[in-house]
Amino acid sequence: MNEEVMRIEDVLHLTNADMQQVNQHLTSQLNSQVVLINQIAHYIINNGGKRLRPVIMMLLAKALDYKGKQHINLAAVVEMIHTATLLHDDVVDESDMRRGEKTSHEIWGNAASVLVGDFLYSKSFRMMVTADSMEVMAVMSKATNTISEGEVQQLLNIGNQSLTEKDYYQIIANKTAKLFEAACELVAIISEVNSNHRQKLAQYGLLLGTAFQIADDVLDYTADDDALGKNIGDDFNEGKLTLPLIYILNKGPEQHKQSVSDALNNPSETDFMSLRQLVNNSGAIEYTLQQAKLKAEQAKTCLSALPDSKAKQALQFLCDYTWQRNI
Ligand code: IPE
Ligand code: IPE
Ligand code: MG
Ligand code: MG
Repeated sequence: MNEEVMRIEDVLHLTNADMQQVNQHLTSQLNSQVVLINQIAHYIINNGGKRLRPVIMMLLAKALDYKGKQHINLAAVVEMIHTATLLHDDVVDESDMRRGEKTSHEIWGNAASVLVGDFLYSKSFRMMVTADSMEVMAVMSKATNTISEGEVQQLLNIGNQSLTEKDYYQIIANKTAKLFEAACELVAIISEVNSNHRQKLAQYGLLLGTAFQIADDVLDYTADDDALGKNIGDDFNEGKLTLPLIYILNKGPEQHKQSVSDALNNPSETDFMSLRQLVNNSGAIEYTLQQAKLKAEQAKTCLSALPDSKAKQALQFLCDYTWQRNI
């Protein structure tokens, strides 16, 4: 097969028809008799988002030549769970911008956001039942449970300057990569691939999701707010140690270590733009992106058993995109 150069637009073009079905299904499932639920759920879902997890699922279903319809439902389930975690995460992180708009809790308050997050979680489980598969239920119930553990582990480590790289990887595997892993595993299950191949595809999701979160943590120090659709500096302001700061605290020059440590001790007196500059001039971003790239390259190797196709090329391309992206 010709190795064409792909762009993200080509990937989106390839999945466009399927994604329209996913979005329709997602919207049709949001209706509740309770007006506030409709308002908040439609607000956050209609504000967009990259829909990366469903896109990966559509590509994998194509690459495995899946002939049924359940991938559409399960992709909506995964996006709904992702959205529920965002509603909760923005309350916990006290973030005031998401997907280019005010966060839901800024408009409707924390209580309403948390409760609607719960609605989306539980709704997604009702939708999952239609797959009529104990294996699907097992994977998703484990994944959602692990995401909650990851968010709590992260909370427990706020301000912990001794957080190791190993701890960091454990947290991001749980809070983020696990959902990517589950998304891929679900498609493998409904496509009835053998257990070895299923494991490989799950591993692809886990590694890609890890690279994705590492890149997200870089963007919190490098991106442009408007392009990203969320405020940068949220991680620092909240005392969240991510790989760029962990690198400086462990491997940076003494002077940088001291500055970062002082900043973490006195966040309210720190000018984030100065810290941002220091982080960008310390080698921390290059180091961190290198780690994301390594994970992404490992993810690529997990696709080797898939037959050649455009969808497979797109899945390979996403490995590069995930750590090179700027949104
Ligand atoms: C944000 O996820 C939360 C992380 C796991 C980093 P996305 O970057 O996929 O968010 P949307 O869905 O595109 O808004
Ligand atoms: C991802 O972490 C959170 C979830 C898995 C819900 P972040 O807190 O870094 O995500 P953003 O930056 O708010 O999107
Ligand atoms: Mg957050
Ligand atoms: Mg982030």
